[in-house]
Amino acid sequence: MLDAMTPHPTLPGRYTSPEAKPAFVNRLFDRGARHYDGVVNWGFLHSGSSYRRWVQRRYGLRPGMHVLDVACGTGLVAVEAARILGSAETITCLDPSSGMLEEARKKLAARFVQGRAEELPFPDASFDFLTMGYALRHVMDLEQTFAEYRRVLRPGGKVLILEVTKPAGPIGRFLFRLYFGRIYPALTQLFTRSREARDMMAYYWETMDQCVPPAAVLAAMQSAGFTAVKRNSIGGMFSEYSAVKA
Ligand SMILES: C[S@@+](CC[C@H](N)C(=O)[O-])C[C@H]1O[C@@H](n2cnc3c(N)ncnc32)[C@H](O)[C@@H]1O
Repeated sequence: MLDAMTPHPTLPGRYTSPEAKPAFVNRLFDRGARHYDGVVNWGFLHSGSSYRRWVQRRYGLRPGMHVLDVACGTGLVAVEAARILGSAETITCLDPSSGMLEEARKKLAARFVQGRAEELPFPDASFDFLTMGYALRHVMDLEQTFAEYRRVLRPGGKVLILEVTKPAGPIGRFLFRLYFGRIYPALTQLFTRSREARDMMAYYWETMDQCVPPAAVLAAMQSAGFTAVKRNSIGGMFSEYSAVKA
């Protein structure tokens, strides 16, 4: 059997073996769920909703499509998809964290399913458009995840994965580390008075810092059999990975 293609190495300060990662990540998001929207809103200067809507429209999301939002979290991507589609009727939201799903259910009348990207509980060829926002670092195996994405998409279906990526240049990297590694977690604790919310944002940085480079993500998408595999980035930091099931 081939080794798993993990998005980042084991983080011993957080969990001790690869097998312990899913339970650790789940606990982190369950505990941080009620703070997530507030923290993400000010942390990204309230740009998140319009960006999530703009990018989905730009990659071809249209009314009538059946959408799967993997790692839906509190529903930030799916809410914007529903605006484009005109309703949430054809949207399925999937996430392993019951805390995050509970927050998402308050916002939209989509179908909610508890599950993981690596083992999607859906039949083959069920969706036209698959999204994943800021969660790729949390899966156990990139190739297995992308193989699942390809399986559940219909021929011609598109995948769109959004991520924040550490800049390649030294100055960008320094500023990025300063903001995401120090300022953002500290302000999170100050504003929320929650150690759990702080941990969630500190882990955000740790996984970004250790994440495989964009070329490895693209290679994993290719090897899962996707075509038109691309990465577009805004300022080298906001990555949009897209591909098509031929
Ligand atoms: C940073 S939040 C992103 C939420 C939302 N997509 C957004 O755009 O803000 C990451 C989400 O990934 C979920 N997650 C963690 N491991 C996962 C996995 N293996 N498969 C699917 N989702 C996962 C977490 O529960 C959490 O809700």
